[in-house]
Amino acid sequence: MPPFEPPVSSILDRRGFLRAAGLISAASVAAPRLHALAAQSAPAAPVSANDRIRLALIGAGGQGQYDTSVALQVPGVELVAVADCYDGRLDHCRERWGASLFTTRDYREILARSDVDAVLIATPDHWHKQAAVDAMHAGKDVYCEKPMIHLYSDGPEMIQAARSTGRILQIGSQRVSSMLYAKARDLLASGAIGQLNMVTAHWDRNSAIGAWDYTIPLDASTATCDWPRFLGTAPQIPFSAEQFFQWRKWQAYGSGVAGDLFVHLFSGTHFITGVKGPTRAMATGGLRFWKDGRNVPDVMLALFDYPEGFNLNLRVNFVDGGQENEGLLFTGSEGTIAISGNSVTVSRVPRESAPGLTVGTFTEAMQRQMRSQYAARYPVVHPAGPPPSAVDRYAAPDGYNDSYDHFANFFHAVRTRQPVVEDAVFGFRAAGAALLSNLSYEQDSIIHWDPVAMKLVNRSV
Ligand SMILES: NC(=O)c1ccc[n+]([C@@H]2O[C@H](COP(=O)([O-])OP(=O)(O)OC[C@H]3O[C@@H](n4cnc5c(N)ncnc54)[C@H](O)[C@@H]3O)[C@@H](O)[C@H]2O)c1
Repeated sequence: MPPFEPPVSSILDRRGFLRAAGLISAASVAAPRLHALAAQSAPAAPVSANDRIRLALIGAGGQGQYDTSVALQVPGVELVAVADCYDGRLDHCRERWGASLFTTRDYREILARSDVDAVLIATPDHWHKQAAVDAMHAGKDVYCEKPMIHLYSDGPEMIQAARSTGRILQIGSQRVSSMLYAKARDLLASGAIGQLNMVTAHWDRNSAIGAWDYTIPLDASTATCDWPRFLGTAPQIPFSAEQFFQWRKWQAYGSGVAGDLFVHLFSGTHFITGVKGPTRAMATGGLRFWKDGRNVPDVMLALFDYPEGFNLNLRVNFVDGGQENEGLLFTGSEGTIAISGNSVTVSRVPRESAPGLTVGTFTEAMQRQMRSQYAARYPVVHPAGPPPSAVDRYAAPDGYNDSYDHFANFFHAVRTRQPVVEDAVFGFRAAGAALLSNLSYEQDSIIHWDPVAMKLVNRSV
């Protein structure tokens, strides 16, 4: 993870919470059985010495430089060029990756180069679509950071560009390639927690950097920052170092906590459950603490209905009074699956097969009749008797990095031309769902979305 996204450390432990609340006894909770997750089989390595993928970076800030350092760990990948709008970052990339690196403020110079096979786009959100579409039309494969879209109209354009050019487009929500998420998906599909009815996920923070107050360099000015190029299609305002370096705080460039963090929780939920997206969204929140001129909330709560029969409940809190903390909890009729830190924990609590009815004061005949009616209405899920309660914890190896796997998957697709998991359709379904929260918050209403057609219902935005 980049330095400004500290690793999550707390454990989202519903049974611990229930135990603390006295709702279940310690004796009734099985001790977790620990399992080490094995590394996934490595995607194809280069087939020959000439089979190198020449990568260029567009947007060399915190995530762009971090992503590049991870991408270069994948065998057969080299960095040949970098574009950025702040000269200090171009200088630092040459310090980091060699003085011969081609650098420019104008990414079109990179796209014009025949020695670039693929680009990694890590600009602010409002540039994702244009840079990605330009790159695909220039014949480059694209790894584009999340959120895929800034505006709803970005989605169809990016999908169309990927289809018409035949280029690989992978979106950068790296959890989709995580072995933890794959384990959670397999557990859910195997019926480990019965029928899913709710997903609860959060990403809380409690620091200035967590709340996007990124450091402004000492030499920030119109001499070192290409302000018109940074603005692009955003409203044309005079130079602001704060808006240049802390762009997430303004809707003109970023997508609020929904586009920044909810989108990760959507990508994870959609990957694990295999669904396309919600049909209804409602959100609330507010600017509770970081009243520094930003025009997006720092606390947001949102609820979503999925046609598959479950609800999603999301939260981001930038003043949570504790440590950075990210987690997802899948609740089913027979247990929960929790993802937190470097592990997945499945807690199986089979439903009782015999009904607990308050019929003891009725006649024996009526008791028998009511028990049989109950059994007919709620048939036993486990004909051979319910399996015992159990808690299994699956841990990724120390130092496991899902970003590496996500880049390995991308480069594998670049070499083999096989589809990527997180393609433009997946990326739009995740980001389009996330941004429903902003619409609901801004418009003070429930927003309807067609997740199959990927369209807002009865709204034009
Ligand atoms: N996948 C993740 O976990 C993750 C984590 C952090 C950020 N991100 C995403 O990465 C992207 C970048 O975030 P960041 O934190 O690195 O921001 P940042 O401000 O640190 O870096 C953005 C860089 O883009 C440059 N830039 C702006 N317009 C440009 C243009 N037209 N051409 C070339 N360069 C341009 C800026 O000068 C800046 O250096 C965002 O979309 C963000 O959502 C993803």
